[in-house]
Formats: sequence, structure tokens, C-alpha cells
Amino acid sequence: MTEQLAASLDRLGTETAFETLARARALEAQGRRIIHLEIGEPDFPTAPHIVEAAAKALRDGHTHYCAAPGLPALREAAAAYLSRSRRLEIDPGRVLVAPGAKPFLFFGVLAACDPGDEVIYPNPGFPIYESVIRWAGATPVPLPLVEERGFAFSAGDLAERLTPRTKLVILNSPANPTGGIVDRALNAEIAKLLADHDCWILSDEVYSELLYDDEHDTIAGHEGLLDRTILLDGFSKTFAMTGWRLGYAALPPAFVEPVTRLMINSVSCTPPAVQLAGVAALEGPFDSVREMLAEFRRRRDVVVPGLNALPGVTCVVPRGAFYAFPNITGTGLGARELAEALLADAGVALLSGTAFGEYGEGYLRLSYATALDQIEEALDAIAQTLGSLQPQP
Ligand SMILES: Cc1ncc(COP(=O)(O)O)c(C=O)c1O
Repeated sequence: MTEQLAASLDRLGTETAFETLARARALEAQGRRIIHLEIGEPDFPTAPHIVEAAAKALRDGHTHYCAAPGLPALREAAAAYLSRSRRLEIDPGRVLVAPGAKPFLFFGVLAACDPGDEVIYPNPGFPIYESVIRWAGATPVPLPLVEERGFAFSAGDLAERLTPRTKLVILNSPANPTGGIVDRALNAEIAKLLADHDCWILSDEVYSELLYDDEHDTIAGHEGLLDRTILLDGFSKTFAMTGWRLGYAALPPAFVEPVTRLMINSVSCTPPAVQLAGVAALEGPFDSVREMLAEFRRRRDVVVPGLNALPGVTCVVPRGAFYAFPNITGTGLGARELAEALLADAGVALLSGTAFGEYGEGYLRLSYATALDQIEEALDAIAQTLGSLQPQP
């Protein structure tokens, strides 16, 4: 029997966070103590009223297949939440539900792009963007996020990359891995640029509730763009529900049927009891979301000064999400090399900036969705390892 697999698999990337987590767990299985700053998930439990809604749904017999686009109750709750939080009019008919926000990245890009199309995407950015662009046979066009601008890009940077072949522009605010944002002024400039360009937009807003001082702004709210934007959001980050696998998107009407078809071809539907938990989450109360954000702020205010105190390391203050993205060029070490050394020597699992694209060289990503005492312990261990490492000539 041949062992030859599809050549197209070479185009499919991955998310290093899961690989690093597996390596860290393997070290733990050998008895090593590891502090986990690699995976991007809140360390809080899901709020009890959400858990109870799912338990009740299971007891009530919501244990079967359901409609592929999502339960009407969740499509309506998500449309109401998006309309409320973004000050938009979103019709439930354009909202689809999936097992996580991630499927909308995959299906959105597959539905929008043919081979030869160009897709502009943030870099350093969530690695799945580049992976699915390549998988669709489209050409990834990285849009560098620049530290000096607080990890934003300028409208000029975007304008330079727009061509007649640009089919899709991906935006992510607040951003993984940098904690940067696309603010209202930049969105207004982007909207002006895109008014003359016949392309789709994918706006990944899964961290929209995790903003420290700014108000969230969506590109979909700018003139003429709602019908061109796949606006995706989810429950993983906002409601500490990563393991539930639940997300939703408001799509341009042309995408609703094809993306539903992609779901029928892959996942069929999203578990109904999980969806009913999602309804409870969106209906509130939001107290646990606010408490979680307050705790992330406390941790951010420890981790950023802690990183800035390390030799050769500087770190800008993230405006959203729960990631710090320190510049480590002053250590004289490469990002991968340092990430490896910190796992091996300091027992701290974190990610190289290069896991998020070529413009991530010179940076590390630390998730501070971890208890404060562990963050402090990690900072001490990193300081010790840095002190013992000799920079390569
Ligand atoms: C920017 C971004 N988009 C999407 C996702 C996927 O979220 P979900 O768990 O809802 O699939 C993540 C998860 O890390 C993310 O960081």
C-alpha cells in the first residue's frame, strides 16, 4: 500500500501553541515543573448560569442533530448582541453558528477565494490565517504590524498592498499575538480605501470584550461595509468557553448558503445543548466577563513592567486580549532559540513570535491568562535563564 498523502497537505500550516503545549505536557509527564504561558485560553471557569443552561438542555433532551446554520434562538441572541455591542442592525438571517470561531476563518476564506486571489492579513497574526489562505490556493500578502505604532499598521501600508487581485482583507482587533488594536480612526481610513476596491473583509473580533481602555470599533460599522464583511466572534475568550467549541459570525448575504453548505459537508451542525449555553451567555449577566477583564488588567500591569525589567527585553503595553509581545532583540538571541531555552532551562512554556509569521522575529508571546503567582514565578525563572545565557556572536 502506498504511503503517499496528498501533496496539498504541504500548504496546510498549524498552530504552534498546541504543539508547544504537547511538549510542555510531555516534560511534565517526566516530572518537570512547567509554567504555562503558551496557550491562549482564560484560566477561569465558565460562569455557573452558562453551565446550568447546558446541563438543563441535555436533561431536556437536546441531544440530537439540529439545523446546520444554528438554532434560531442563538442566531437571534447573537444578532441582538452584535447589534447592541457594535451599534449595527444585524439580521439573524445572516448569522451562522459553528463549533468555535475558527471554522469561520476556514470556511470564510474557502468561500471567498480561488487560486490566484490575493489575501492581505496581519503579520505577526493568528497563524491560521496564513494557513487557510495557502490551503485555498490563494496568495498570502502579509501586512506588517509595527511595534512603533503599538502593533498597528498604517492605511498607507494597506494601500500599498491592495491590487486588482486582492479578494479578501483580514483584520483582527484586538489582536493575537500583539494585543494591538485597529481603532476607529484607522478603520475609517481603511473604509475609505476599500470603497474603491471590490474585495471582501474578514474581521476577527473574538477579543472584542477584552479591551482595557479603548472602545471596540468594527470595520463592519463603516459606511457600505456591513454587506462586505464576515464579522466573527465567539465564546472561547469572552466567556472562558474554549472547550465548549462555540462561535458565530454575521456574514454578507452571499456567504450564508455556501458557508452553511461547507458546514453540512464537515461538522453537520453545532451541538444544540452547547448552543443553548451560548444563548444564556449572551443574555447575561456579564459580571464574570467584567471580573475576568479586571483580573487580566492586574496581571498585565505585573507582566509588562516585569518584562521591561529583564536585560535586553522591552515590552509595549497591550491594549486588548491577554498577550504580551516583548521585543527580545536586545538579548542577542533569536526568538525560537530563546523560546526553546526558556522551556528547557526555565521551565516556562511560551511561544516564539515567529509562530505568528515572519514579522514576529525578535519577539516572544506570553499569554497572561495564568494566575498572578505563576506569572511572577515565570518572570523570575526567565530572568535567571537570561542571566545564564551567552548571546551568540
Ligand atoms: C485571533 C483569534 N481568532 C480566532 C480564534 C479561535 O477561537 P475559537 O476558540 O472560537 O475557535 C483564536 C483563538 O486563539 C484567536 O486568537
